[in-house]
Amino acid sequence: MAPRASNIPQAVPQPVATGLTRASIFLVVIVNPGAGHRAAIRSFCADLAALVRSVGFREQEGTLSCVAGFGSNAWDQLFGKPRPAELHKFREIRAGERHAVSTPGDMLFHIRAQRMDLCFELEMQIMARLGASVTPVDEVQGFRYFDSRDLIGFVDGTENPKGQDAVDATLITGEDPAFAAGSYVIIQKYLHDLAAWNKLPVEKQEKVVGRTKLNDVELDDKVKPTYAHNSLTKIVKDGKEIKILRDNMAFGHAGQKEFGTYFIGYSRSPRTIEDMLQNMFVGKPPGNYDKLLDFSRAVTGNLFFVPSATFLENVKAN
Ligand code: HEM
Repeated sequence: MAPRASNIPQAVPQPVATGLTRASIFLVVIVNPGAGHRAAIRSFCADLAALVRSVGFREQEGTLSCVAGFGSNAWDQLFGKPRPAELHKFREIRAGERHAVSTPGDMLFHIRAQRMDLCFELEMQIMARLGASVTPVDEVQGFRYFDSRDLIGFVDGTENPKGQDAVDATLITGEDPAFAAGSYVIIQKYLHDLAAWNKLPVEKQEKVVGRTKLNDVELDDKVKPTYAHNSLTKIVKDGKEIKILRDNMAFGHAGQKEFGTYFIGYSRSPRTIEDMLQNMFVGKPPGNYDKLLDFSRAVTGNLFFVPSATFLENVKAN
């Protein structure tokens, strides 16, 4: 069951705020019913860090890491109380043609490395341990596309916080002391209509994103529309900008014409990303929505809590 906070004097976080990598795997699973399966998953929690060490040590330049997250229902089933203060199911948003769907998912494994073979090997080892206890519902291999661009051709990730700012943006401290060093993560798999996007003149694309395409410079406020992606995702509270940490990846199967951007955002409160989504899908003010969504369709949507590494290490099978 869940370790008590008093047993965790100084929790160590999972590798949320790491540097960007060339490759990643996003694995979402649901937990199979049955006390035996839940016990198997709990016993796996304490061993995950050792598995990452086993695979990662074989190629140290590979910077292999893995973050494990848990959905709201899964948390209750696996760990019971106490529960993270802001953990809930991903809330869908419907507005006009736009739909931020909420899809099944109990656990997320966000595996990152400089090479896909390392990500794949770790995923194999995780599934060898958990195989009978979980059912995968979505599995995506993401790749960094040229100079950190997404498939719509824009550099993606520039305005991410770095160093201590990334830590401050993502890790819980005093607001929920029992879950200090934890984080929230929201994922959405977007498919792009690239044929339509590529018909849009570059100047219009730049207004949609809010940055220049070739050299990735933010548009001047005088020309940047209020519907620009980087205007709608700017959240300011009490005069201070609230940042999140993104690690979007390109993915796809060109043969099946199914490709897009896998959005992943970490934050110390899910509220920040929910506010961004509200602005993007409904608009700010309503109707002034994110035109990226005219060319991108969300086909998954999940919210997970990422407990600290210390919490995972202390989980007992029974
Ligand atoms: C179709 C999926 C998406 C694509 C292709 C995309 C692409 C981009 C690009 C190209 C940038 C500008 C460069 C940068 O600073 O990273 C950006 C910025 C940003 N995006 Fe997205 N994004 C997507 C979805 C989302 C979602 C769902 C959210 C949050 C709910 C989000 C939040 C942000 C934030 C916070 C910024 C930085 C804004 C700033 O401070 O300038 N993005 N995105």
